[in-house]
Amino acid sequence: MYRSTSCNSLRKEHTGHSVTLAGWVNSRRDHGGVIFIDLRDREGLTQVVFRPEEHPQVAEAAHGLRGEDVIQITGTVVGRLTGSENLKLATGEIEVIASALTVLNKADVPPFPLDSKVANEDLRLSYRYLDLRRAEMTQNLKLRHRVAKSTRDFLDEHGFLEIETPILSNPTPEGARDFLVPSRLNPGSFYALPQAPQQYKQLLQVGGLEKYFQIARCFRDEDLRADRQPEFTQIDVEASFITEVEIQSLIEGLLKRIFREAKGVEIPTPFPRMSYAEAMDRFGSDKPDLRFGVEITSLTDIFQDTQFKVFRSVLDGGGVIKAINAKGAAGALSKEQLKKWEEWVKTELGAKGLAYIRLKDGEWESPIVKFFSEAEKAALAARMQFEDGDVLFFGADKHQAVSDVLGRVRLRVADLLKLTEGSTELNFLWVVDFPLLQFSPEDNGWAAVHHPFTRPKAEDMGLLEAGDYARVRAVAYDVVLNGVELGGGSIRIHERELQSKLFGVLGVNDEEQQHKFGHLLKAFSFGAPPHGGIALGLDRLVMLLCGADSIREVIAFPKNNRGVDLMTQSPVSVELRQLRELSISSTVKKA
Ligand code: AMO
Ligand code: AMP
Repeated sequence: MYRSTSCNSLRKEHTGHSVTLAGWVNSRRDHGGVIFIDLRDREGLTQVVFRPEEHPQVAEAAHGLRGEDVIQITGTVVGRLTGSENLKLATGEIEVIASALTVLNKADVPPFPLDSKVANEDLRLSYRYLDLRRAEMTQNLKLRHRVAKSTRDFLDEHGFLEIETPILSNPTPEGARDFLVPSRLNPGSFYALPQAPQQYKQLLQVGGLEKYFQIARCFRDEDLRADRQPEFTQIDVEASFITEVEIQSLIEGLLKRIFREAKGVEIPTPFPRMSYAEAMDRFGSDKPDLRFGVEITSLTDIFQDTQFKVFRSVLDGGGVIKAINAKGAAGALSKEQLKKWEEWVKTELGAKGLAYIRLKDGEWESPIVKFFSEAEKAALAARMQFEDGDVLFFGADKHQAVSDVLGRVRLRVADLLKLTEGSTELNFLWVVDFPLLQFSPEDNGWAAVHHPFTRPKAEDMGLLEAGDYARVRAVAYDVVLNGVELGGGSIRIHERELQSKLFGVLGVNDEEQQHKFGHLLKAFSFGAPPHGGIALGLDRLVMLLCGADSIREVIAFPKNNRGVDLMTQSPVSVELRQLRELSISSTVKKA
């Protein structure tokens, strides 16, 4: 037996017990021959004392111990002297006087300290197995386990079956590029790793399984960010004979359970609902963070007769004028900084400009205010509740463009003014009534906003028939927490005809439909039940539960922003022989 208990279990009432512990040397202190060791395992720390006067050989051996050595000790639990307890430690009222020591393995000096925050993420990822020993990472992965466990328990209790679906599969469109896997047995043919189990979970409904879930690995080849990984995990759910509202309340129940069991927090349900149109209009985002205001306000009516040429030409072209008020930001935004913000919207957001007015000591400082009439100024000040110390930011363009830009400016203002700092608020929201389709100028065609299997709203079927695609809404919904899109889903199309029509609108011709989606269309002709579902991003959910700022903090072995696993150096080049077997010829020579 390596140990009789964990390093986080001994308390005052265990005084006098003989115990055996195993773990890593977290730290070692030498107090004039008496050696103190904090012994660490997954559960916590226990102070172990080596006294030369009682066990001279053991104490002598303890002299040679270094951080991260793996040891086993046997000893007796004693209460610490009054005044020397460590109240920060669960085991801080006791210590173990060691009578035996076995060194199970020696350790080299770690490349970074394991008991504090480490700034260099590349270094952490290169030695991830050491990074995982840090209490913070261990906590994060424990919490992730708890979330997965609560999910399984909850969905099981609600009659959902956990069913695995293939990883080697056909491409399914979720808006990213596919990772392809060449088939040796079928030269020239490829599997795609699933961007989501979307088609399979629908086919399980055709298969009569009625309630499915899976903690599913998904793969998307897209540009990586703090909340995006090339492989990530979804809590994937699909059910038959279910309505939008039923799915939403199921997910509210699931999140309630997760937050209670993983975090001890009661979240109020039902979550508020907001239409996509309202979210874009007021917050410039389909995942608005409602922990703060700084709402986007329309000024189009006020500037109807403006002589300011920028606004004039936008209005004449059917655009809108909108603004946000960065309350109290005047002190934090110098003229130079305002210039930098203007540069940022131009270069990074593709905007034409970012007009502003800074109100400081009664003075309207702005490059544009000289073009405003007194009446416009008065109306503007009243609508925006413009007061001393405030900064107004203007967007003038087509509605969508203004929403996008001011939505981003709004987040930057919140960041600047630290509007969410220290907040423990959990702001959940359902964004509903998404548009079904969106015109893509690059492809010069219509694209699905969610995916091509999403159902148009019954009341908008006429618009679809009439070809008024931009106005067709979908039975689709996203759940948002504190400005992060946690999950998205929809009621699906279950009729062959309608699905085929939708593919047609998306520019997939009959031949291509047969080639790519023939299996699904055929399945729909054998009595497919009405069905719908959702997928939650498990990594994002755990990230928010942990208060982490990147999903890399809650994934055991993540990739960096270039899609590289710094520990294994994956992806690697392969031998030509392997490529030949796969009937692949590479056009890239690796340096
Ligand atoms: P969607 O594409 O919206 O929907 O994905 C669902 C959720 O998965 C998470 N997510 C990601 N997390 C980390 N890294 C990524 N690269 C990444 N991409 C997505 C997000 C997102 O909300 N099949 C549909 C669901 C359905 O219709 O039922 C789907 O995959 O939290
Ligand atoms: P200009 O006349 O182009 O020098 O612009 C005057 C001010 O209006 C500058 O501060 C620009 O950043 C701003 N501006 C120009 N175009 C727009 C626009 N479409 N929306 C918001 N501000 C703009």
